[in-house]
Amino acid sequence: MNWNPGKYDQHARFVSDLGMPVVELLQPRPGERILDLGCGDGALTQKLIEIGCEVTGVDASRQMVAAALRRGIDARVMDGHTLTFADAFDAVFSNAALHWMKEPDRVIAGVWRALKKPGRFVGEFGGLGNVDKLHRALLEAISMRGIPPGDVDPWFFPSPDEYRDKLVSAGFSVDSIELVDRPTPLPTGVAGWIEAVAHPFLAVVEPEERGALIREVEDRVRPLLCNDGVWFADYVRLRFSASVQG
Ligand code: BEZ
Repeated sequence: MNWNPGKYDQHARFVSDLGMPVVELLQPRPGERILDLGCGDGALTQKLIEIGCEVTGVDASRQMVAAALRRGIDARVMDGHTLTFADAFDAVFSNAALHWMKEPDRVIAGVWRALKKPGRFVGEFGGLGNVDKLHRALLEAISMRGIPPGDVDPWFFPSPDEYRDKLVSAGFSVDSIELVDRPTPLPTGVAGWIEAVAHPFLAVVEPEERGALIREVEDRVRPLLCNDGVWFADYVRLRFSASVQG
């Protein structure tokens, strides 16, 4: 997947800016070894480092890892489905990344292996109903062009029950798990948001068709997501804290 850190910074910086509640849920302590799974450009990773944690970040995007390295972070290109760590971290932390990993059982198994025992897995990502209006409009725009939406849809937005079952099956105790509604202003509107974070839907149409697709989605969601010229996205977070015993 081709991420552009510059576009992300311009159109979606709120993703890391709004990540502090999940940092608070993690309750990081100075000296802890933490894996930031899906670290992106490292903006939130840096907060953990400032607290005094020893943090390694991994992300599947080479471009994002390069941006994290420029901040001085120990960051590596690694797919969350194939984590290679064993008994290495006191906690695994993840913000706004797990919904991109469509085989969650493999991800959770890799997190379990990566953790020292006892250890914790704390994260937040898109839950059931996340960006629902935008998601539906994007899927429809793709299918109207004869492209099977199931082949393109890059996101996994589970319910708390579905994700709790997966964590428990992998050997975790779930200390808390909940959906949190978070309508979020989009600083550069729907068009900027699609270009920055919904690019898999653009990648499957011809370059000259992309502007039309964006306008179609905008027209469809305007009555639902635009108030006096201010655009919002209907974000719903799935926030959880899980632990594994010693
Ligand atoms: C999210 O953080 O929920 C999200 C980010 C990009 C695309 C879709 C969802």
